[in-house]
Amino acid sequence: VGAGDGYEVVIGDGVMDTIGERLRAVTAAEKVALVTDQTVGELFAMKADTLMARAGFTVVPMAVPLGESSKSWSMAGDILEALAAHAISRGDVVMALGGGVVGDLAGFVAATYMRGIGLVQVPTTLLAMVDSSVGGKTGVDLNAGKNLAGAFKQPLAVMADTSTLASLSEDEWRSGLAEVAKSAVIDGEEFFAWLEENAAALLDRQPDVVEEAVGRCVEFKARVVGEDELEEGPRECLNYGHTLGHALEKASGYGTVPHGLAVAEGMRFEMRVAMDLAGAESAFVKRQDRLLDALGLPALEVELHATEVHAAMRGDKKVRSGVVRMVLPSAPGQWQCVEVADATISAHLGAWASTKEGDQP
Ligand SMILES: NC(=O)c1ccc[n+]([C@@H]2O[C@H](COP(=O)([O-])OP(=O)(O)OC[C@H]3O[C@@H](n4cnc5c(N)ncnc54)[C@H](O)[C@@H]3O)[C@@H](O)[C@H]2O)c1
Repeated sequence: VGAGDGYEVVIGDGVMDTIGERLRAVTAAEKVALVTDQTVGELFAMKADTLMARAGFTVVPMAVPLGESSKSWSMAGDILEALAAHAISRGDVVMALGGGVVGDLAGFVAATYMRGIGLVQVPTTLLAMVDSSVGGKTGVDLNAGKNLAGAFKQPLAVMADTSTLASLSEDEWRSGLAEVAKSAVIDGEEFFAWLEENAAALLDRQPDVVEEAVGRCVEFKARVVGEDELEEGPRECLNYGHTLGHALEKASGYGTVPHGLAVAEGMRFEMRVAMDLAGAESAFVKRQDRLLDALGLPALEVELHATEVHAAMRGDKKVRSGVVRMVLPSAPGQWQCVEVADATISAHLGAWASTKEGDQP
């Protein structure tokens, strides 16, 4: 995976049991700064610490409070100071043990401490396994918006132990499922059809199906990132469903609509815009609706004004010269990033909002 020398992504039940040897295989570091959040720390840090100590590493644990608010400039500063206070040196590594919050934060710190030291990602949420731990994007939020400061930092390795997912909450599980669905639609017919067949098993967290889904998503993302490491073109496809999704999260107040449901709703909405502008056929639209239903990502019931959502959409990172751009798929595996005129968005948002009022099926 990745540009340059590439790196290995190991996925499987029990990968954590060999974390010490696996880490030794990619670094000669003496110390490991183990960054996690409180929940993940309580669940897995002790085990990781013991196994790495056995492999000869000195582990320096650093736990941050739960949630997105830890992905902050000040938290990054605190960790950087802590790295210096513990005399972490150039040859040492930062390990991100946790979900996307810890991965983005610890990754950003690893990218900036001494102008960059080694990073290892140990994702423990489905979202982090299928999306955020691979691809090298790291960063923190600013008051003005999410992910506004960051750096590209490819890890030395990614170790995804799928057995850690058993303790994830339903909402967190669905956040990951929405990204799996997104990947399948953009990747192509083979993945899409596989997911249709295995949706119920994946919703039930059947281990072999979970492992395969993570593997398929990582392969897909690695391919996309390999073509466009710095997000100058094709990588935009990963934003499918996120133009409306992010706007919904913002307009309703972060934390109100779970991320996964917001992204799934975004996919439903953007697919309808794709019918209008990109030639998506109604059979494809229905297939995606059924897939999302089967993954436990039903159409949302939200009370939101179309104008508020539209305003939030204008803050999307794909906006260019004030024009909203959306990733619009025309068939599995085929998509384009299209400028969508304000009037078109208003019309679609109006239709969308009216379905929420129960005026239409
Ligand atoms: N860098 C990227 O390419 C990229 C891509 C997508 C998303 N992101 C970022 O990822 C973040 C969201 O990630 P997330 O959804 O993983 O959130 P998160 O890191 O906040 O994790 C969600 C919750 O799950 C808990 N948790 C983690 N692992 C657990 C486990 N195994 N068992 C029980 N609980 C566990 C955490 O403590 C947390 O409360 C956002 O900040 C987003 O911007 C980054």
